[in-house]
Amino acid sequence: MCGIVGFVGRGPAAAPILDALRRLEYRGYDSAGIATLEHGLLTRRRAVGKLKNLESMLNCEPLVGRIGIGHTRWATHGRPSEDNAHPHAVGGVAVVHNGIIENHRELRKELKSAGACFATDTDTEVIAHLVSQQLKKGRVPIDAVRAALPRLEGAFALAFLFEGYENLIIGARKGSPLAVGYGRGEMYLGSDAIALAPLTDMINYLDDGDVTVITRQGIAFFNAQGERLRRSPAKIAGATVLAQKGEHRHFMVKEIHEQPSVVGQTLAQYIDVASGTIKIPNDAELGFRDINRVSITACGTAFYAGLIARYWFERYAGLPVEIDVASEFRYRNIPFDPGNLAVFVSQSGETADTLASLEFAKARGQRVLSVVNVASSTMARASQIVLPTLAGPEVGVASTKAFTCQLATLACLAIAAGRARGVLSADDEAALVRALVEVPGYMTRALELEPKIGQLARKLASSRNALFIGRGTNYPLALEGALKLKEITYIHAEGYAAGELKHGPIALIDKDIPVFVIAPGDMMFEKTMSNMHELIAREGRTILITDRKGASLASPGSWVTLVLPDMPALVAPLVFALPLQLIAYHTALVRGTDVDQPRNLAKSVTVE
Ligand code: G6P
Repeated sequence: MCGIVGFVGRGPAAAPILDALRRLEYRGYDSAGIATLEHGLLTRRRAVGKLKNLESMLNCEPLVGRIGIGHTRWATHGRPSEDNAHPHAVGGVAVVHNGIIENHRELRKELKSAGACFATDTDTEVIAHLVSQQLKKGRVPIDAVRAALPRLEGAFALAFLFEGYENLIIGARKGSPLAVGYGRGEMYLGSDAIALAPLTDMINYLDDGDVTVITRQGIAFFNAQGERLRRSPAKIAGATVLAQKGEHRHFMVKEIHEQPSVVGQTLAQYIDVASGTIKIPNDAELGFRDINRVSITACGTAFYAGLIARYWFERYAGLPVEIDVASEFRYRNIPFDPGNLAVFVSQSGETADTLASLEFAKARGQRVLSVVNVASSTMARASQIVLPTLAGPEVGVASTKAFTCQLATLACLAIAAGRARGVLSADDEAALVRALVEVPGYMTRALELEPKIGQLARKLASSRNALFIGRGTNYPLALEGALKLKEITYIHAEGYAAGELKHGPIALIDKDIPVFVIAPGDMMFEKTMSNMHELIAREGRTILITDRKGASLASPGSWVTLVLPDMPALVAPLVFALPLQLIAYHTALVRGTDVDQPRNLAKSVTVE
């Protein structure tokens, strides 16, 4: 995880570094730090907690150096503390790191027996010691870094600063993404292009094994063998404005309310309303007729979007779907089928496990398609076919609008596959397209439930546990509802297939555990109602989330009922997601938790 930044220019480095770090805070916010060179000497400021703590420190004790590196941390090795905050400095070299050095214990032991004294509990400190050891041997910085890198196992993106070298930052990448940016008499380095967007739109990316040498005059690239590489910068369409909360109290609620609009925009790029058809770019490349299977791989909320899409690919395209959380995908010895389309879903396009799975599938000759929200991300660049979601920047750590945009995109993909494979007729396609077109309107009406959900949240806030149940696509939605609640309220919550309750979880039911029953009035409704009444019979407090049809069919007994408009089954998961997000949000408000940056989490998980 973690965000890293480097700056070498004419003016003080700390301000642009801090600004870039703000854009990287989604990667972690346990602590942050900046190192610069002042009169050739390393000077650092580091602070525990969010970036604003470092900012206050810099206001009292400014840094004036014109070259520097910065870091925002998500702790992997060593608790969040000032000592463990990056940059780490040893013997005239400072380093910031994103990733994990897997052999850090062996290296620490070896370095200690050679006389090194360690000041932190981090894996990263070994890197500073290794490079410093090489400098002591008389090597110049680039040679010292080159000699140290082969000793490191695991994943890393690194930036180094050296005492006495006022015009030199060295960067290196293996596994974790790293970009460089070009200015006039200034050069930059960052974990991603978005971090550098206000500084420049001329960007280059390091490939695995690359080392980069950055000075005010230019940027050079070398491969792992030390050979100079030719790389021309590319212009990126950068999101230069840092997302603002506007009149909203939190990014999360702003992003929940943006859904009618961003889902509409996402759908608009895949739908031709006039002809009632789906338009998937690169449709020809997809060759749906030759595909006999789809695999979907993702993490977190994106995984739940994939779970919902599985029902759609099966129902609308007759395609069997294999689905995995990305952290398991590579370790299952899957027999790869050349007729498989490997789909990867990610908001950030940088999640380490999803990215590694994508590379793994690609290396085995799979056709790779990604559904990503960040167009300049590593995943987007590594995929053969990219279907962008147009959610815009999502800042709240708990994913909301990215999820529904992923669903919108995957629904379009499943329909396109169904049509190409002859499973859906032109009329079927047109009916499904009509349903999708109505989604923004259904969502707007779903948001009208907010006052009622606000009242419900006051009753839920003292709960210690909660269950979410559903059948069909409402089962993965139940998993997502439970994830949202636990992420931001810290209430323990589980999602279950409604039919599974009797196989264990029903033992938990008493009057203190709220159970959210997600049940639109579809063909599964009566079965889910039976499950709900089994809970009510055991004094369970059920919150029924249904549509008007379901509300008219439901026999009384639920503690609270939230009623959405009637809608076709295809689009129900996109709309029913909204009350679940609002339940989590308003319960978090009552509990007073940190909604946008919940404890221990990060927006983008760039370590395995
Ligand atoms: C983190 C975030 C989740 C997100 C997951 C996958 O856990 O907190 O909101 O769903 O990563 O991220 P991705 O960027 O790959 O969608």
